[in-house]
Amino acid sequence: MSSMKMVLALCAALAAAAPAGVHAQACSEAGWQGRQVDPVAQGGRLYDKWWTVCGLDEPADTHPSYPAAGKQKGAVTWRCKECHGWDYLGKDGAYRKGSHYTGIAGLERRAGTDPAGIVSILKDPTHRYGERLPDEALLRLAWFVSGGMIDSRGRIDPATKQVLGDPVGGRWLYGHNCIACHGADGQAMNFGSASEPEYLGTVASENPWEALHKLRNGHPGAVMDRERMREARIRMHHHMIAGQPMPPMRMVLSVDQQFDLLRFLQTLPAE
Ligand code: HEC
Ligand code: HEC
Repeated sequence: MSSMKMVLALCAALAAAAPAGVHAQACSEAGWQGRQVDPVAQGGRLYDKWWTVCGLDEPADTHPSYPAAGKQKGAVTWRCKECHGWDYLGKDGAYRKGSHYTGIAGLERRAGTDPAGIVSILKDPTHRYGERLPDEALLRLAWFVSGGMIDSRGRIDPATKQVLGDPVGGRWLYGHNCIACHGADGQAMNFGSASEPEYLGTVASENPWEALHKLRNGHPGAVMDRERMREARIRMHHHMIAGQPMPPMRMVLSVDQQFDLLRFLQTLPAE
């Protein structure tokens, strides 16, 4: 067989293996954010926004299991976090009230359980992710649920959102791991808009669970592209960070260090 024919045969085999409607190559190396191959962190980014990770179109419909009384609609209702929360506690966590309330349970019962069982749940009629995502992505999601979630109870006060941690240690960690892209004051990048700016300090204070999830697992689809570098006015380190994704810290920092860092982020200016 010529090499061209072999490539074609391989493509056909991959296409045949994929469930209907799923692009076999969708969750490619590029989608998995290059060299960052920690599969649990990949699962965390899928939990955050799977279509961005996999290079798929944003869902146009509302998830069939999203409660009619819920206040969200459309693509966001397909994010795991929308029903189960950034804290993985569902109706018992930060989404126990407010515009993200669904009344759906958290996932803590599944921590440490068999990933195969979790994959079955993701393919069940409640979830229907088998129709949208290839098995490799479902397995990464399952690894994340089984081994990647963090219990922040006792570390983040649910009433005040204050993080228990050492901001001085956190400042040092920030200088070594984050400052090159986010700037000394965390304002090198604005995640909001000009009229409603949202900086690192804003997210950490308003939604510490989201900031923690992202600092542990990375941010789906985010690389330091030219536009972001220009916005951040980055010159000094540009050769090191150009085109680089936001690095997941779950394996780099201890859990205590992660909370120290999160505590420091809360001292950064929110506006
Ligand atoms: C539209 C809402 C919705 C979305 C989005 C959603 N789930 Fe669920 N999930 C549910 C419901 C409903 C249950 C059943 C629990 C309940 O009835 O409260 C459930 C249960 C689970 C369970 C079993 C929990 C247990 O204790 O047995 C797991 C694991 C799970 N979901 C993982 C995920 C993952 C991973 C994602 C993202 C890929 C996801 N879910 C997205 C609604 C959702
Ligand atoms: C290589 C560059 C880079 C490094 C290093 C980096 N980040 Fe990021 N980070 C990004 C990019 C790009 C985004 C996405 C910005 C956007 O969505 O506009 C982002 C987004 C975030 C967000 C999500 C904000 C939101 O609400 O969407 C948090 C939280 C965050 N970073 C924390 C950190 C922390 C903490 C560190 C250090 C451990 C860090 N980052 C290191 C590039 C980086």
